Order: sequence, then structure tokens, then C-alpha cells
Amino acid sequence: MTIRTARFDDLPAIAEVATLTWQSAYADILPAGYLASLTVSARLDRLQEKWGEQASESAAIGEATARTCPRPETAAPYWVAEEDGRIHAYCSAGPTRDPDLPFDAELYTLYVLESAQGRGVGKALLRTAATHLRERGFSGLLVCAFRDNLAAGAFYQALGARLCLETTISVGGVDYPDVAYGWNSIDALLARLAP
Ligand SMILES: CC(C)(COP(=O)(O)OP(=O)(O)OC[C@H]1O[C@@H](n2cnc3c(N)ncnc32)[C@H](O)[C@@H]1OP(=O)(O)O)[C@@H](O)C(=O)NCCC(=O)NCCS
Repeated sequence: MTIRTARFDDLPAIAEVATLTWQSAYADILPAGYLASLTVSARLDRLQEKWGEQASESAAIGEATARTCPRPETAAPYWVAEEDGRIHAYCSAGPTRDPDLPFDAELYTLYVLESAQGRGVGKALLRTAATHLRERGFSGLLVCAFRDNLAAGAFYQALGARLCLETTISVGGVDYPDVAYGWNSIDALLARLAP
């Protein structure tokens, strides 16, 4: 599996990984009807809307956001895991969205297709994102997850994260318990992720 920076022409594959992984990973958390209503094309529309039309298809996502981000040095790239010409996973990370939280960086997304889980891909993507953040001077890292996403919680906690916040998140007009896991030290996380 190769990890690389995502380009705009990866967005359809990223939308597919996001949609399929939501449907499998959240089957016991979100209503079946809501998950069945999710479509790759709707996810792609939202991603394209988010990143704008101006970017060239082959540009790296982080390069384009650097033009509009108030802190260009911290513009959030995406990374993908690719094998045999197919994208199996992706993640994104950048500055914490809530500045009141005592962590300066946030892992915004980390999704591995069910068929590729348990092969070290999640760890490899997290290592890439954490290395990128450390090189840009970030010191701590936060990630939010559904409280009932026990597999993700176990994954993060096995890597040294601690549960640091409990809140709710609205999905499809319904509030669900949401939690945040945090690492005070990205260096300590990277030590745990060392191959
Ligand atoms: C959670 C997720 C990102 C982990 O990625 P992955 O590629 O499956 O995990 P990896 O193979 O890289 O790492 C496995 C490690 O995580 C730990 N781990 C993973 N799942 C675990 C579980 N259910 N219980 C305990 N430990 C677990 C293990 O300690 C394992 O460590 P090891 O390699 O020393 O045995 C991935 O499974 C995923 O995308 N899940 C669905 C979507 C999701 O929940 N994303 C997170 C949203 S916040």
C-alpha cells in the first residue's frame, strides 16, 4: 500500500471510500435508513463544493487550500492509501477546528475500507499526518469519533490517546454522543507509530 498526498482528481475515490466506510463502520451506530440514503455522488458534491472549482485536477489538495487558508503554512492536505490503482483509505489533518481545546492539531478524517482494515493502513496514514503536523510545529493532536465507535476508540487508545471530551454531534437531524481522543505529544504518538 502506497501513501501519498491526495490530488483533486482523487476526490471521486475519496467520496467512495467515505460513503462505503460510513455504511459499514456505523451500521450499529446510525439508523439503517440514514446510511442507505448516503450516496457517493452527494459526498463528492460536498467535497467539490468545499475545495472549490478553481483547482486544477492534478493539484495536491493542500496546495490549493494554501491559497485561501488564513494560516497557509497549515493548510490541510489529504492523504490516500493506494494499491493496484485503487484508493483504499484516506485521512486529513490540520489546525484544531475549536481553538478552545488544548490541542493545536486535529485529525479531521481517517477512513479505511472494511476490506483493507487491520493491515496497518490506518497506522501508516496517521503516521504520515502526524509527521506532517510535527514538521509544521504542532505539538498536540485531537480526533473526534462517535462515542459508540468502539473500534476507533480502541485504535486510538492503543496508540496512547486519552479520552478528553464528551459532547454530541448532529447527524441527519439527530444528536449522537461524540467523544474526542487526544495526544498531548505528537512526538509520543510518532514513537508509538514507529515501524
Ligand atoms: C479505525 C481505523 C482507522 C483503523 O485503521 P486500520 O487500518 O484498520 O488499523 P491498523 O491495521 O493500522 O492498526 C491496527 C492496530 O490498531 C489497534 N486496533 C484496531 N482496531 C482495534 C480494536 N477493535 N480493538 C483493539 N485494538 C484495535 C490494534 O492495536 C492494532 O495494533 P497492532 O498492529 O499492534 O496489532 C479503521 O479500522 C477504520 O477506518 N475504521 C472505520 C472508520 C472509522 O471508524 N474511522 C475513524 C473515525 S474517527
